[in-house]
Amino acid sequence: MLNAEKLPMKLCSIFSLFPSIFVIVTLLPLALADLNSDKQALLAFAAAVPHGRKLNWNPATPICSSWVGITCTLDGTHVLALRLPAVGLSGPIPPHSLGKLDALRVLSLRSNLLNGTLPSDIPSLPSLQYLFLQHNNFSGDIPTSFSPQLNVLDLSFNSFTGNIPLTIQNLTQLTGLSLQNNSLSGPIANLTLPRLKHLNLSYNHLNGSIPSSLQKFSNTSFVGNALLCGPPLNACSLILPPPSPSPSNFPPPPKQRSRKKLTKGAIIAIAVGGSVVLFLVALILILCCWKRKDSEGSSVLKGKASSGGRSEKPKEEFGSGVQEQEKNKLVFFEGCSYNFDLEDLLRASAEVLGKGSFGTAYKAVLEEATTVVVKRLKEVVVGKKDFEQQMEIIGRVGQHPNVMPLRAYYYSKDEKLLVYDYISGGSLSTFLHGNKGTGRTSLDWYSRIKIALGAARGIAHIHSVGGSKFFHGNIKSSNILLNQDLDGYISDFGLAPLMNFPATPPRYPGYRAPEVIETRKHTHKSDVYSFGVLLLEMLTGKQPVQSPGRDNMVDLPRWVQSVVREEWTAEVFDVELMRFQNIEEEMVQMLQIAMACVVRVPDMRPNMVDIVRMIEDVRQLDSENQPSSEENRSKDSNVQTP
Ligand SMILES: *[C@@H]1O[C@H](CO)[C@@H](O)[C@H](O)[C@H]1NC(C)=O
Ligand SMILES: *[C@@H]1O[C@H](CO)[C@@H](O)[C@H](O)[C@H]1NC(C)=O
Ligand SMILES: *[C@@H]1O[C@H](CO)[C@@H](O)[C@H](O)[C@H]1NC(C)=O
Repeated sequence: MLNAEKLPMKLCSIFSLFPSIFVIVTLLPLALADLNSDKQALLAFAAAVPHGRKLNWNPATPICSSWVGITCTLDGTHVLALRLPAVGLSGPIPPHSLGKLDALRVLSLRSNLLNGTLPSDIPSLPSLQYLFLQHNNFSGDIPTSFSPQLNVLDLSFNSFTGNIPLTIQNLTQLTGLSLQNNSLSGPIANLTLPRLKHLNLSYNHLNGSIPSSLQKFSNTSFVGNALLCGPPLNACSLILPPPSPSPSNFPPPPKQRSRKKLTKGAIIAIAVGGSVVLFLVALILILCCWKRKDSEGSSVLKGKASSGGRSEKPKEEFGSGVQEQEKNKLVFFEGCSYNFDLEDLLRASAEVLGKGSFGTAYKAVLEEATTVVVKRLKEVVVGKKDFEQQMEIIGRVGQHPNVMPLRAYYYSKDEKLLVYDYISGGSLSTFLHGNKGTGRTSLDWYSRIKIALGAARGIAHIHSVGGSKFFHGNIKSSNILLNQDLDGYISDFGLAPLMNFPATPPRYPGYRAPEVIETRKHTHKSDVYSFGVLLLEMLTGKQPVQSPGRDNMVDLPRWVQSVVREEWTAEVFDVELMRFQNIEEEMVQMLQIAMACVVRVPDMRPNMVDIVRMIEDVRQLDSENQPSSEENRSKDSNVQTP
């Protein structure tokens, strides 16, 4: 950045630089003037439009770095984006206010209480690409002059009247047009917009026949217009013949199936492991194990390669500590339908799923095509009796739709194995933080609520059935496993008491409650703390610190507290969530639940049963008046704010 006070000095001393100084001296005021006019426009807007939540738009602070909702150009000379969703803005927007932000590309004022007519200088801002004004109460005609750059125009859920402006035809860049739930009337023009992918004109008073250019959209783009006809809606009656070629020339509208439904039967496989399937970790482990094989004595039984060479992958071993004479000591739990013995298990082809805090998890494919997860525990410090008792509780507690059941276990001096179902989806951690480049589907809001609720129910069940001394002890996103339908299963519980607590407590808290770090004692309330961190992780998309030296991780509770203290909550949420509509209230509610879970004093935290009820209340809200997640999902694929 240019430093204004250096300029006079330069002028006197280095006369030879006159030409460049000339440029600086002439351009600097220009740039400042631009930003200054943007600033005046914003202040005029804030002064004229009452807002429920306080904006920190202080004229004395730098607008690009400290004003809420503002994004500037890289050089800091113009305001590029203004985003103030759901801050309680009310009343009309005066003309010549936001209409002066002449470099603006993104304007989002959705989910406020704005009304009156929309000043025509806003949609016609020359660089505007994204305009989100849905869920307000704007009325009157839609302005007719638009920025030629417009990509997405969302004016849905307002009270606009009049016709759909014909000038929309000129918007060659338009990919999304959402005008549903207004009171627009008249016919739909034959819009030929090459890039248009998302169209919604539902719930208006439009009439006439649907023009041929738009018949490729599904009927949900047009429903709720009683006088509208023709494909993809019902055929027009003879009294209203379609002006365009007869509908029979057109293929039926493409069926839009937004999400594949998997047959329940296909999902028998259930996974455990409590670990992210890190391919790299797997590779390293495979290499390590191969090396170790050479040095192992002959008294241990080695997993034999399964017959027929079913798997080309290098074979993994988890049974090297099993004594020859103990091969039938696999203890199954009641109600388990598996039909194999330890020998079968040791013969299975296995691959490393991941390395968790308590040991390594392997995926084992048995010869009768059964897939299970075998967890090989390390550093078990308790004796056989205590181990068996804990297994009994873990087995009993596992009977819940959101809890990963333990199917069998094996205990000997040198080897402790746990057998769980295999779940094919992956862990919540991979869904939240997996590699963004590789087509990872981002979790929408409704999936996140569903997963959070499932996890809360699972933990509440563990607490109530296990009793006051039984806790999960290791709640984190890599221990929430998801199947293809995104049903969540809590895994890896009840193992902490078997283990040696790490000698040096981690300096970085991650999911661990402060009292656990100090006293090394887990309780139900320390599980609640970890669950709160998990909720924060789902809301913010950020990973909690677990180990030092990874700078993309933060102490989530502290970070969120610091942001929320500044009266601005929208900034904390995952950017992937900001693309969905009308969820701010719910996100804030969930944030409040999370913050209640992570208070320092254990007794002040709610218990899991209360938390389940609180999350259910958030969902209540959703089923009453929110659009379905399918709509959000389809929006998501088309509407992208840069
Ligand atoms: C929206 O504005 C119209 C007038 O334009 C008014 O009749 C209606 O009550 C308003 N709706 C809400 C929810 O404020
Ligand atoms: C559509 O409605 C307008 C009034 O809004 C009316 O003038 C026009 O005749 C109607 N057109 C058809 C095809 O019904
Ligand atoms: C259009 O909006 C309506 C009402 O909000 C909704 O029911 C419908 O699914 C939407 N259609 C599309 C294609 O998004």
